[in-house]
Amino acid sequence: MEFDDFIIGRDDLILITGATGFIGSKLVQGLLKSGFRNLRCFARPSSKLERIEALCDRRPAGAHVEVFRGNLLSREDCLAATKHVALIFHLAAGRGEKSFPDAFLNSVVTTRNLLEASLRHGCLRRFVNVSSFAVYTNRKKLRWRLLDESCPVENDPWLRGDAYCYAKAKQDEIVVEYSKRTGIPYVIVRPGYVFGPGKTNITGRVGISTFGIFLHLGGSNPVPLTYVDNCAEAIALAGLKKNVDSEVFNVVDDALPTSRQFLGLYKQHVKRFKSLYLPHFVSYALCYLWERYSDWSAGQLPPVFNRNHWHAYWKKTRYSNERLRTRLGWKPKVPMAEGLRRYFEACRDAQPYA
Ligand SMILES: NC(=O)c1ccc[n+]([C@@H]2O[C@H](COP(=O)([O-])OP(=O)(O)OC[C@H]3O[C@@H](n4cnc5c(N)ncnc54)[C@H](OP(=O)(O)O)[C@@H]3O)[C@@H](O)[C@H]2O)c1
Repeated sequence: MEFDDFIIGRDDLILITGATGFIGSKLVQGLLKSGFRNLRCFARPSSKLERIEALCDRRPAGAHVEVFRGNLLSREDCLAATKHVALIFHLAAGRGEKSFPDAFLNSVVTTRNLLEASLRHGCLRRFVNVSSFAVYTNRKKLRWRLLDESCPVENDPWLRGDAYCYAKAKQDEIVVEYSKRTGIPYVIVRPGYVFGPGKTNITGRVGISTFGIFLHLGGSNPVPLTYVDNCAEAIALAGLKKNVDSEVFNVVDDALPTSRQFLGLYKQHVKRFKSLYLPHFVSYALCYLWERYSDWSAGQLPPVFNRNHWHAYWKKTRYSNERLRTRLGWKPKVPMAEGLRRYFEACRDAQPYA
């Protein structure tokens, strides 16, 4: 990494929220490796610190890693954590897919608190908001059309029946709105599905486990994967590179496997299990019927499957990392085959899929 191309120097203070998480800990590792020497990692009092402590033990000489204990729901904690901070990587998020209040509190309210606290100090040079592919609607696209940064995001995200999608869309909105109102500089990063050791589940884009059987979905659809180290590097570059304020970056790797290929490899390398393939028209019809019944029964059946959901997750779509490459000079350092090998190995060592 070239420091001349960056908006901050190696000793400027960087705050990382979600630093104890799957991607955040890789980001901390990458920043230390790149020579940044002044990191503040936000962690809740209940957060497991093993990943961060392991990094602290191995940090380069002269690097300072502070663990700030607090909760982003507290304005006072946000004010204290953002003091003297030049760059914020905001990865903390409510990951529950079912609880709207939980997702809203831990993704939207937390983001607002951080933005307000940063404004009070007036020293922030960029706010990196880590969003998700979940916010794209993908509804009006033809099959096999490209999903890139120009695609519309959900206007009515609650119609997806997915608390995570709702909260991430609202989180993006609040960042853009604050920036328009106050001039706070930001970048939005939207990863696809991030995989790697530390995660053992199969993405819902490949299928769903229900009633003792795995329903395989997506068939020949490419799965928008990004290996955790590659994703962390993309996030780092989006925060550091000059002249990219207000831009959005999607993160996907190269050589994406199809849903069918992914499932085949998983069965071959991790564990064999029975699966039933649902062709596209069947999954679409089921989502449609679920949506109608949910409407008709006034929510007796929660609207977790619906046509908006189907379009976002199971419609044939192509993906691009062109903007990451051209604007940030990113390329995936860990090739897909190697990323999958490491992931399957970790899955085998942990509780395999049942
Ligand atoms: N993983 C993916 O496939 C994926 C894909 C697209 C986008 N993303 C986005 O990438 C970011 C990181 O994802 P991840 O997979 O690394 O998530 P993760 O492992 O679940 O980590 C989430 C982090 O957020 C922290 N957090 C949640 N609520 C908080 C609060 N109120 N105050 C302080 N910290 C709080 C958690 O702290 P605790 O340790 O205390 O729980 C944890 O460190 C998220 O914004 C996510 O939406 C992830």
